[in-house]
Amino acid sequence: MAGNTQTRRAFLVSLTLPLLGLAGLWRFLTPTRVPGSRRLSVPVSDVPPGGALVLPEDGVAVTRSAGGELNVLSLTCTHLGCRVNATEAGFVCPCHGSRFDHLGRVQQGPAQAPLRQVAHAQDAGVLRITV
Ligand code: FES
Repeated sequence: MAGNTQTRRAFLVSLTLPLLGLAGLWRFLTPTRVPGSRRLSVPVSDVPPGGALVLPEDGVAVTRSAGGELNVLSLTCTHLGCRVNATEAGFVCPCHGSRFDHLGRVQQGPAQAPLRQVAHAQDAGVLRITV
């Protein structure tokens, strides 16, 4: 009887580990979101003048210059892909210290390229963003 228990347990363990491995592999190989497949609608009035509306779940920030110009920037650092943080002066990367202004332009390296501009359109006071 004890031999049957050992055999059953060994069988279940040998079955469970590969299934867990397949589940992990499936999660790693399937994209959670296809870029360009989601559209956001943001009321322009939600973007503070001279400031930014940060949408961390969507990886973008909407900035508005003092003159009212709207920009939608990716929060992904162009150096090695860390998520930048919004500050009063612009955006700062916590990984290696790159700094970007409110338009996404590099102020301090090591990043060489500006933050990516995200496609958007404005319609009747609503900003439509494709992420
Ligand atoms: S990943 Fe941002 S500075 Fe290196």
